[in-house]
Amino acid sequence: MDTYNVLLIGAGGREHSIAWKLAQSEKLGQLYIAPGNPGTAQFGKNVELDINNFEAVSEFINKAAVELVVVGPEDPLVNGMADYLRERNIAVFGPEKNAARLEGSKEFAKEFMLKYNIPTADFAVFSSLDYDDAYKFIVLKDTYPIVLKADGLAAGKGVFICNSEEEVKERLLAIKKDEKLSEAASRLVVEEFMEGEEVSVFVISDGHTSHILHYAQDHKRIGDGDTGLNTGGMGAYSPAPVLNASLLEQIQFEIIDRTITGMQLEESAYTGILYVGLMITADGPKVVEYNCRFGDPECQVILPSLKNDLLDLMIASTEQRLDEKSVQIDDNYRCCIVLASEGYPQSYEKGKVISGLDQFDDETLVFHAGTKKKGDKIVTNGGRVLNVVAGGKTLRGAIEHAYEAVKKISFENCYFRKDIGHKGLKRISNL
Ligand code: AMP
Ligand code: GLY
Repeated sequence: MDTYNVLLIGAGGREHSIAWKLAQSEKLGQLYIAPGNPGTAQFGKNVELDINNFEAVSEFINKAAVELVVVGPEDPLVNGMADYLRERNIAVFGPEKNAARLEGSKEFAKEFMLKYNIPTADFAVFSSLDYDDAYKFIVLKDTYPIVLKADGLAAGKGVFICNSEEEVKERLLAIKKDEKLSEAASRLVVEEFMEGEEVSVFVISDGHTSHILHYAQDHKRIGDGDTGLNTGGMGAYSPAPVLNASLLEQIQFEIIDRTITGMQLEESAYTGILYVGLMITADGPKVVEYNCRFGDPECQVILPSLKNDLLDLMIASTEQRLDEKSVQIDDNYRCCIVLASEGYPQSYEKGKVISGLDQFDDETLVFHAGTKKKGDKIVTNGGRVLNVVAGGKTLRGAIEHAYEAVKKISFENCYFRKDIGHKGLKRISNL
């Protein structure tokens, strides 16, 4: 059998789970991860590379005879890594720059959805020179809450939900002053607020054929009961009972098929993972956002449920052969608890020794995110530190199993949410 040397780009919990899954493939030759983390090092060789320096990445690929590049995070994709490497005849799993605009530009995504009749919130777009017009538009509309979104990538810090005219005024001024947001907010999307429950659906596409891999619910806020600041995600569970077979069919038909076909018509065929962030509203599922990669921590609950060989699916995607494949998911629930450094998503301390990592079995997985090796110890090195993932025949079982496993790990100033999956449990008990 042919084997493939793979270079995986990224360093988070998502990439640790991808490395874990790729390592189960008979098709895997050597796995390299750039830059990786102590978790990924268990499955391949971590390489020090600046992932935004495409020339350096390409040189490494030639030197190490890499045959497939798998890109974890959005930045390199939005900046054209897939284009750069494909021009050099290197196979890449991930969308090209034009296709990654679905995440890289909210204005593009919204105009695209309007054009192809994909359900989403009503919106209007303003340039940074026209914030006065944006303000007048919102005052005339007089419906709150209202959502303000920076057009470009802002690492989750470019979306603001305002509850009054006063708040809008203050927020517009703050965005104008915020130097970090100035590029992303050179265009501003003003959007209707959607009421409902959120869920993330993950699709694999080769540009023509697409399959739903699975779906999960993230927990974006730092505090229990969805309170406090937005984060990268504090936990996830899958499958989320907010979806059922008929909603999935509707999502496939009204959202996914139209997106894949629409992108073909835009001559920006979408390949790789498409993450569709949805709000399940009283009027049906609507798109909140598209992302051009796996979610983190959603990936950490999806991949353990996937029965397919992930590398085989990725190769089929890069060779436009996904029509030959079908996706197989097991019938277990999975729950992921993110262990973070107290203080995240604002300032926090690093370098705390982590203990208990050696007590896990095949049933429970611990994926590293912000960790670092220091001598023979593993220490904290980021806001989101570890992801503890466990499964069960029921959602309740998976959640309990995951929280039991969390007890085995300790580090100073460890913070985690205590209510991951509770929305799902509530929904099941109300059915
Ligand atoms: P985004 O980066 O577009 O996913 O937005 C971040 C979060 O803001 C989403 O996960 C939602 O919780 C919330 N959000 C964004 N847009 C809307 C909307 N139109 N209505 C309600 N909530 C929204
Ligand atoms: N967990 C949300 C994201 O990956 O964007």
